[in-house]
Amino acid sequence: MAMEIILLGPPGAGKGTQAGLIEEAYGMVQLSTGDMLRAAVKAGTPVGLKAKAVMEAGELVSDDIVSGIIGDRLDELGSETGVIFDGYPRTEAQAASLDEILKSRGRKLNHVIELGVDEDALVDRITGRYTCAKCNEGYHDRHKQPAKDSVCDECGSTEFKRRPDDNEETVRTRMAEYRGKTAPILPIYEERGIVTRVDGMGGIEEVASSIRAILGAPPK
Ligand code: AP5
Ligand code: MG
Repeated sequence: MAMEIILLGPPGAGKGTQAGLIEEAYGMVQLSTGDMLRAAVKAGTPVGLKAKAVMEAGELVSDDIVSGIIGDRLDELGSETGVIFDGYPRTEAQAASLDEILKSRGRKLNHVIELGVDEDALVDRITGRYTCAKCNEGYHDRHKQPAKDSVCDECGSTEFKRRPDDNEETVRTRMAEYRGKTAPILPIYEERGIVTRVDGMGGIEEVASSIRAILGAPPK
């Protein structure tokens, strides 16, 4: 049976970074509601039009919208493909929807991994973050620069972009949303005995190694 995991943690905790590494190592698929919403905003779809201002303010998009896109995306995947939920669920209502969504598709959660971090370090992580405009490879002003100045290591593009919600004021709102609405869902999973806390303040490879220890050896 496919493995299903949730990566939980405040903005900048490293959910996207670690989801990408797990995806590569375990052949699972990363479902990031943030990435899907940003794609919808870019494409100007009805969902994107509703989400744009809410995201720019650092607040949460409605539960129905995000649960709807998660259900649709899961339907496109074969049942043998495991999923890493990155940035979903974020509220109690979304956690309840995810239970239904998984149950009706014969899937079951195996692990909830909470990335524990220090908020001030997160502001530094987020405000320094940028990505390649062409292939989306992630970089950081201080922690991860391209080997050749202003040229993407992966695809050679010289165009980069920053997220409109990656400024200090919006980051503080996003953190408050995490503390107020998302952190309170942890007990739901703690009761099921599937939560493991990982120290997210180590280096990227160190965090990845702690996660591999939870998931077990990746398939060869
Ligand atoms: P979303 O896109 O999910 O953003 P977020 O939760 O704020 O998290 P981030 O993507 O900013 O951080 P991350 O944990 O992925 O960190 P990353 O790996 O990039 O959501 C955006 C918005 O969409 C929300 O505010 C909301 O409006 C809406 N939304 C999304 N999902 C929703 C939902 N379910 N319900 C309602 N609304 C929703 O790392 C950050 C930086 O640090 C990078 O530069 C990286 O290179 C660097 N880094 C990573 N790990 C390390 C490390 N160990 N050491 C040093 N640097 C590191
Ligand atoms: Mg992310």
